[in-house]
Amino acid sequence: MADLRKTIEEKAKYHFDYMVQTRRYLHKNPEISFKEFETTDYIIHELKKLGIETHRPLETGCVGVIEGGKTSDRVIALRADIDALEMEEEGEAKIQFISERPGAAHCCGHDAHTANLLGAAHILTEMQDEIEGKILLIFQPAEESLPGGGRLLSESGFLQEYGVQAIYGLHTNPTHKPGTIATKPGPLMARPDEFEITIKGTGGHAASPHLTVDPIVLLGQVITQFQTIISRSVDPTDPAVVTIGRVRAGSTYNVIPAKAELIGTVRTFSQENAYLIRDRMEAILKGVAEGSGGGYEFEFNEGYPAVVNNAELTDRIIKTARTYLGDDGVIELKKPIMAGEDFAFYQQHFPGAFFFLGSGSEEADSQWSWHHPRYNVDEKCMLTGSALMAGLVLGE
Ligand code: NI
Repeated sequence: MADLRKTIEEKAKYHFDYMVQTRRYLHKNPEISFKEFETTDYIIHELKKLGIETHRPLETGCVGVIEGGKTSDRVIALRADIDALEMEEEGEAKIQFISERPGAAHCCGHDAHTANLLGAAHILTEMQDEIEGKILLIFQPAEESLPGGGRLLSESGFLQEYGVQAIYGLHTNPTHKPGTIATKPGPLMARPDEFEITIKGTGGHAASPHLTVDPIVLLGQVITQFQTIISRSVDPTDPAVVTIGRVRAGSTYNVIPAKAELIGTVRTFSQENAYLIRDRMEAILKGVAEGSGGGYEFEFNEGYPAVVNNAELTDRIIKTARTYLGDDGVIELKKPIMAGEDFAFYQQHFPGAFFFLGSGSEEADSQWSWHHPRYNVDEKCMLTGSALMAGLVLGE
């Protein structure tokens, strides 16, 4: 094991410049979700140089297949997302490779995820004889936009055809230093759903409320009753959030409006709780609005499922990371975070585990949060990330 680790680490160091150059090239030439055509061509070109078989199950993104030297029916997938955000970026630290494309920027680190997995591809092809079975390198498009490239790919049947037995993914994380990883078994990232509600009343003169159905009064009751969903309906040991982000009703002092609107988000860690909350919301709306002679429209838009880590695979990540980074390099998270990730879709079909790759440092100006215009990664994180990805599939 120690020899294997040393070999992998040396290879990661050897390919570090390649990863940095690749990451900077991608950073300079970002493409937004579902439009990653040049990025895909670039990745395919890089994989072909290594003699890796490539497939294109979706319009953008691609999957490389490495055939191991040891015959086995083992199939493990490693996933990177490749899309940029629709935004402008800033930052002195990125001046040499800042986006040359207006309205597109790699401010979520997917450039580093891609370069990191290409680095792992180099390590793995050089150690092909040691690999048991097949390794799928997934370069997934459109993590940032619904319905999510992860959903399309995991429902395309392509991965099922290969009989994927395990899938690993990572995300750079500015709150931790390079040379560290963080994860936990079970719920890791939340399921973010959104809702839109219109409460319909009957408008009229403010001085004659008895001739109207006042949607503002109904709105007040709905808001108050929604607060009882988490406190009275959801299991108190399950984290869940109902937040109303905007309310709109009325126009002036002396008019009772005809309708009131509210929008917001629901965060949970299971479909069961998301549907429970959705159904309670609807029951409240029905009772309040219809009980007073009004009506309602209710739209509940499902986002990504929650990222829930397979315990055995998470254990493998933690053990492998300890071997490479020591105990101090492994942060075992106590709580999940409420952001979402479309890696969750793979986990609906295959055992999967996800971890955060520490990428924040002041010297690299990479302490800024995800989606901040100055978001950056300390490129040293790719030394850790590529070695770990290779180590996860090469260790026994
Ligand atoms: Ni991201």
